[in-house]
Amino acid sequence: MISTAPSALLSVTGVTKRYGGVTAVDNVGFDLPPGNVLGLVGPNGAGKTTLVDCVVGTQSPDAGTVEVDGRALGSGPAVRARAGLARTFQHPQLALELTPVENIVLGIVGRSIRSYGSSLLALVRGLAGTPYAALDQAKTVAEEYGVTTGGVSTGSLGLGSQRLVEIARAMAAEPRVLLLDEPFAGSDTEGIAAISHAVHQVRDSGRSVVLVDHNVDLIAELADSVVLLADGAVVFTGSPQDCMRSPQMRSVYFGTTASEEPR
Ligand SMILES: Nc1ncnc2c1ncn2[C@@H]1O[C@H](COP(=O)(O)OP(=O)(O)OP(=O)(O)O)[C@@H](O)[C@H]1O
Ligand SMILES: [Mg+2]
Repeated sequence: MISTAPSALLSVTGVTKRYGGVTAVDNVGFDLPPGNVLGLVGPNGAGKTTLVDCVVGTQSPDAGTVEVDGRALGSGPAVRARAGLARTFQHPQLALELTPVENIVLGIVGRSIRSYGSSLLALVRGLAGTPYAALDQAKTVAEEYGVTTGGVSTGSLGLGSQRLVEIARAMAAEPRVLLLDEPFAGSDTEGIAAISHAVHQVRDSGRSVVLVDHNVDLIAELADSVVLLADGAVVFTGSPQDCMRSPQMRSVYFGTTASEEPR
């Protein structure tokens, strides 16, 4: 039996992750077609980050499968990266003393690292001579995503600009699916516009995006579909508009149930 819809680029099925007595992610599944943006929303502690961690392989779920193009993926972040998954972090994880372009080089290098042996090779070759080709490629990616190519330290940039550097670094690895964990948090209006633009660019190139955020209004503008999580479980899947109107949405965010709503 074929369980995966043929149109899905990323399929997540029955993912469950427990930390001691806490079920952080509870039997979660979704299908994401190519060129689509999926909004993953839910309040603090709903399980959004844990789900992203399970999808990209930095956490091992207790149950569930992750498929790309209908092929079940092995465990671990290196396997998942090779399969075309890349992510950004809720708290950016960048080398702050390096320039933005140098940070993006890490994504470029990640393209060619296929094994422990090849990463050693990359390290040794990097020490033996400056990887000019990688720097040039990184500069091109920086320009594509509106990241400064100047010789400034990444740590001197605002949070929104740092998040854009993380997106560019992730895209430098040429993933098929990009998972963004709260990419707008701490950004000013300009940063939000730049990151929204980047999401459009990624989507328009036929890649898919999982967009995690609390800000349902922002998600609604960018997402083709929405998964609403509460206490680790999916309580709504559908269009952003239907999600905004749903009793589940009101219940999760405002604590009201259908019977309490004004008529
Ligand atoms: N490493 C961990 N060890 C123990 N419990 C954890 C761990 N990581 C997450 N949890 C718990 O799992 C649940 C889901 O957390 P998670 O960080 O995935 O939620 P989230 O939706 O990303 O929240 P936020 O919006 O605050 O980022 C929470 O109850 C959290 O306390
Ligand atoms: Mg989180």
